[in-house]
Amino acid sequence: MERIYADHAATTPVIPEVKKTVLEITEKMFGNPSSIHAFGREARAVVDQARQTASRSIGAKFHEIIFTSGGTEADNLAWIGTALANRGRGKHLITTSIEHHAVLKTAEFLESLGFEVTYLPVDESGAVKADAVKRALRDDTILVSVMFANNETGVIQPVKEIGELLQDHPAYFHTDAVQAYGHIPIDVNELHIDLLSVSAHKMNGPKGAGFLYVRDGVKLAPLIHGGEQERRRRAGTENVAAIAGFGKAIEIAMERMAANKAHHERLRDAFIRKLREEGVDFAINGDPEQSLANIINLSFPGTRTDQVLVNLDLEGIAASSGSACTAGSLEPSHVLKAMYGENSPRIGNSVRFSFGYGNTVEQMEILGEKCAAVVKRLSSDGR
Ligand SMILES: Cc1ncc(COP(=O)(O)O)c(C=O)c1O
Repeated sequence: MERIYADHAATTPVIPEVKKTVLEITEKMFGNPSSIHAFGREARAVVDQARQTASRSIGAKFHEIIFTSGGTEADNLAWIGTALANRGRGKHLITTSIEHHAVLKTAEFLESLGFEVTYLPVDESGAVKADAVKRALRDDTILVSVMFANNETGVIQPVKEIGELLQDHPAYFHTDAVQAYGHIPIDVNELHIDLLSVSAHKMNGPKGAGFLYVRDGVKLAPLIHGGEQERRRRAGTENVAAIAGFGKAIEIAMERMAANKAHHERLRDAFIRKLREEGVDFAINGDPEQSLANIINLSFPGTRTDQVLVNLDLEGIAASSGSACTAGSLEPSHVLKAMYGENSPRIGNSVRFSFGYGNTVEQMEILGEKCAAVVKRLSSDGR
């Protein structure tokens, strides 16, 4: 049985070029980038090259990139780092109710330290309104954090409008771009973004690497203390091989962005077409016109998410309920709750499919057929 991986929003396969880079660096460059001898200088050059690639990809300056262990650390550094360094100016932060737990749990932690957080609602489209940000702003607001695209629905948030309206306010603007980066062009200057989080393993890079972009002049306290790495903003010897692989993944994602988007649209459309041909009852969660092409979240009336996922798994298909990061458990989605209300049946019957490297249109037809069979069987069982 051919297995089909349709969970690229949880993590992605490492592409061959990245694997080659990681192996080469692991084999040949064991130097510590902080050492002043030739071994160290070679390793430093590898990290610098990746930093150059990362900074250029978003229109940033070389030293505005801080390498981290991934998206969660980048989000924590953005939130805790700015909150602690700017608490003299205010204790209010604004975010949305559909952020990833890497942001929401960090927000709760800061609340426990005495900070105040406003969580903005979303409507059924899955997007927050820029106007709501404007209304929530206070004189003591120090950070506004709105994700670029949601990890459960793929819905792209009004980042440009929010960046523009914050031009008249001293609050910093952070965006968690973990899902959007590599899929849509991002220029931090055009969008007026001050801090931006990225994760390598969501874009065909290795696990254990990510970055936080921090605009020059943003006051940020480090979370990790020790050596002087990353200009004293993130201590610890760099994960040189993973950073090199991350650099390669960025290079390739930027080159192939348009082609990948077209491919993802073909995959998504082929899957949806097949489900329609098979006469399956489903609804799309969130506005597909406003979404990343590689993520689609579907509600299947009369089914239960866990049963659909287990049955798909038995058919060799990997999909997800959305947030994969909760230790394998199926917690009801806070994103769907925010969109449709606590009592919506969609919360208990929705599945996220996400596409990427290695997926083919033929696979999407098999996926559509198998998914249709599972959904029809489960919904008739429930009657
Ligand atoms: C939107 C978003 N932010 C942050 C993260 C966390 O990133 P990482 O797995 O690199 O820690 C994820 C991972 O699912 C995500 O989707």
